[in-house]
Amino acid sequence: MPKQGCEIGVVGLGTMGRNLALNFADHGFRVAVYNRTAEKTREFMAQEVGPRHIRPGYELQEFIGLLRRPRALLIMVSAGDAVDAVIKEIWPHLAAGDLVIDGGNSHFTDTNRRARALAVNKVMFMGLGVSGGEAGARYGPSLMPGGPQPAYDRVAPVLEAAAAQVEGAPCVALLGRGSAGHYVKMVHNGIEYGLMELIAETYDLLKRGLGMQPEELHKVYTDWNQGELSSFLLEITARIFLKKDEKTGKPLIDLILDRAKQKGTGMWTSWEAMDLQVGTPTIDIAVVMRDLSGYQDERLAAAQVLTSPNHVFGGDRARFLDKLKNGLYAGMIATYAQGLALLKRASATYNYGLDLETVARIWRGGCIIRAALLEDIRAAFRDRPDLNHLFLDPKLGSEFMTRQQDLRDVVGVAAELGVPAPGLMLSLAYFDAYRSARLPANLIQAQRDYFGAHTFERVDAAGAFHAQWDED
Ligand code: 6PG
Repeated sequence: MPKQGCEIGVVGLGTMGRNLALNFADHGFRVAVYNRTAEKTREFMAQEVGPRHIRPGYELQEFIGLLRRPRALLIMVSAGDAVDAVIKEIWPHLAAGDLVIDGGNSHFTDTNRRARALAVNKVMFMGLGVSGGEAGARYGPSLMPGGPQPAYDRVAPVLEAAAAQVEGAPCVALLGRGSAGHYVKMVHNGIEYGLMELIAETYDLLKRGLGMQPEELHKVYTDWNQGELSSFLLEITARIFLKKDEKTGKPLIDLILDRAKQKGTGMWTSWEAMDLQVGTPTIDIAVVMRDLSGYQDERLAAAQVLTSPNHVFGGDRARFLDKLKNGLYAGMIATYAQGLALLKRASATYNYGLDLETVARIWRGGCIIRAALLEDIRAAFRDRPDLNHLFLDPKLGSEFMTRQQDLRDVVGVAAELGVPAPGLMLSLAYFDAYRSARLPANLIQAQRDYFGAHTFERVDAAGAFHAQWDED
């Protein structure tokens, strides 16, 4: 079979695995598939494959035998123990030079561990971030691979054909060494959390503050999605407000519980940001707000006793809408800026060798955070690859500044109305902190030295100093 063997094997026929297998085959690649339960493979073969060159392996041995050597296998199972279980199962069948790819949302430290373990047998390992959900997997995801160059070269034709295309270029590139791909995907998800929170806050202000109904909300978000805010998340938000519940005929959005779940990648991003001491407050608060949403019983009880001034919005609605639109755009800039600052620090810490222009480029299509704004972000890193922070890019910095008054006004209205908008508030505070030549951390230094003799640094001399605070 070596010559005619399949160029790629997919292990795991869940939604993502099935759709990627079909995508690969549609681009003319020979694909082998395997699932732990053979029944699922049979169903897939009978219902979805049709005349495509997709060969089933009902037993692992059979599946491995279908692959061209050296082999390339893509694991598409839930992140965590399931990935280790698959690796353990296939391990005895692999030979030196084979390549194992993990396409799940794995934690980057697991990716490092797995790469080390497989390297003992000279098997290559690649962590591959896949974004775009079911439709992306089927018709063009954004793909974020990390690992050794020869590993990428082996599967580049398959990945580049299957990925989303923007201006004729595929939304995939080898991002860096080791677990770089999974790290970038984690931060992508952190940004995704931040953007979703910001959009949800604008919805809350429009619904609770301005009393807008779903049809009106649909119009607002459709309108916003035409211009600079244009993005996948706004596009689906606009559509969500149109959807009617089949059972009741009511807008479905009003029947959905206000309790958001999470699989953890946003939280990982925040942990990492804390660990590397990079501030990502918009992303952090997005995680917190999902957590708070889960305290529904407590919130219901608290709503009976804890009240707010109950102000009613009395301003100019059209003007407020404009401000909210600008405030959201500024918040989006701050969110991408935080994620990219984390990537910059991570690249230096973990020696990933990331090129942030490439990261922004492959996020422009296929993925959940694709947005018109990424064109400017890409251009910022193209013009200055060593750019320290997106706020320091002349164009993006001035775009934030021209909208800052509107963001301040929106935050003020939210505070007045008692509608929580911490993502917008923190995006603004983050900007204010970043642009402050002087922060009150001198007082924090003094307090630390006062109660713990932790010493402080001075503005007029180098070194560590301690004062006898209680003498006077
Ligand atoms: C993507 C998504 C995808 C998934 C998230 C959901 O890029 O396609 O990010 O990976 O939808 O993991 O994450 P939560 O369940 O944590 O919201």
